[in-house]
Amino acid sequence: MTNSGMSGGSPDDNRGQLWHGRFAGGPAEALQQLNDSLPFDQRMFREDIAGSRAHVTMLEAVGLLTAAERDGVLAALDQVEAEIASGEMQWASSDEDIHTAVERRVTELEPAGAKMHTGRSRNDQVALDVRLWTLQAIDEISDLVRRFQHTLLAKAEAAGDAYLPGYTHLQQAQPVSLAHHLLAHGWMLNRDVDRLADARRRTDVSVLGAGALAGSSLPLDPRISQRELGMAGLFENSLDGVADRDFVADTLYSLAMIGVHLSRIGEELILWASTEFGFITLDDAFSTGSSMMPQKKNPDIAELARGKGGRLIGNLTGFLASVKGLPLTYNKDMQEDKEPLFDAVDTVRLTLLALDGMVATTTFNTDRMAEQANSPYAAATDLAEFLVSKGMAFRDAHAVVGEHVRNALEGQGSLVDLVSADERLGVEAAAILEPGVSVTRRTTHGGGSPQAVAVQLERFRAAIS
Ligand code: ARG
Repeated sequence: MTNSGMSGGSPDDNRGQLWHGRFAGGPAEALQQLNDSLPFDQRMFREDIAGSRAHVTMLEAVGLLTAAERDGVLAALDQVEAEIASGEMQWASSDEDIHTAVERRVTELEPAGAKMHTGRSRNDQVALDVRLWTLQAIDEISDLVRRFQHTLLAKAEAAGDAYLPGYTHLQQAQPVSLAHHLLAHGWMLNRDVDRLADARRRTDVSVLGAGALAGSSLPLDPRISQRELGMAGLFENSLDGVADRDFVADTLYSLAMIGVHLSRIGEELILWASTEFGFITLDDAFSTGSSMMPQKKNPDIAELARGKGGRLIGNLTGFLASVKGLPLTYNKDMQEDKEPLFDAVDTVRLTLLALDGMVATTTFNTDRMAEQANSPYAAATDLAEFLVSKGMAFRDAHAVVGEHVRNALEGQGSLVDLVSADERLGVEAAAILEPGVSVTRRTTHGGGSPQAVAVQLERFRAAIS
């Protein structure tokens, strides 16, 4: 039938067959495929069943179910959960989503299942399910971020007094200790954990009892189901309860921000692994080869971490665009909350695990880092600050040192010789240009010297424990 339009015969016949195909089968099937969310929302089955347990417990407490009916439904819910978990669940073509599937199966097992949806709509049900799913996802991702922070901490501790050039504009700026550089990423991830905790607080709200949009004429008590679920908050407005997806946006933003941070770490690993930098050597298990060039060892994980950032930003902006402009309350557009959320969580989970392994197994070539950081030019700011400590205004000191740098670059002598010969600077200042000296001088709070970093390490350790 689908080929008929391509085969011979009169065009009218073909059009007739195509129309027939389109109207008798095609559209209904397409509608069903577009409408059904079961393929992706079945991963919320545990949350859906947890919500139903709380709901039927509440229904019994307010007298809408007998204790026997409640127990029968609870037992059926247990069985359905086991069937889905083991893969034994027989899905029906009428199962539009996880909510309809669970209710159908519960009712097959227990006639009182027909009472399970009393005072409830899929609108408050799905809003609750997504909240519960998001809570566990936030906890899992927070743990993985913490794990990665511990890897960065371990690497920072192992780095000792190693140092490398610090960069601005990707130009060598001032030397910093390697631990300092690694911890900079660690602190960014710390704010990510904090952001997730903030999103969690707004997610941890029960919306069961909001009904389709307006509450119920039956004597429901949403406080009972909230208590059963152990959720911290309860909706105040049923319309808001079913229409609010802010918590999804909060979570997607937090995940996108993690993606941006992992992308920046990835970019540095890529640079550092290049022959030109040579700052790190990747472990074979966490790098890939080239199908054609035998000498290649590629930082694919770091590149994917960089690339996945774009996808995570897309999940956030795509979702916001779906919700923007929706009139109150539930609209089917809101079904589009789940796939970006699930994808973002899956993406961040995998990226964190891979990048964690990559960093944990990377060798830092500290000799190469020091060699690059030992350029006397990298200590130019220290020379200017030396002059300031002797009483010169900083702007004048900047000019004095700048002139020596220019003369050295123009070949009038080494910077060390020019500085030694200048009576305002002399051998005391020239000693600052010795390898490894400059990095030790920025001892201020949060600064890059090993001395300051020792304090920072303590604070970081405390922050992530
Ligand atoms: N599958 C739907 C969703 O994910 C459940 C809610 C359906 N509600 C409705 N009024 N059709 O949003």
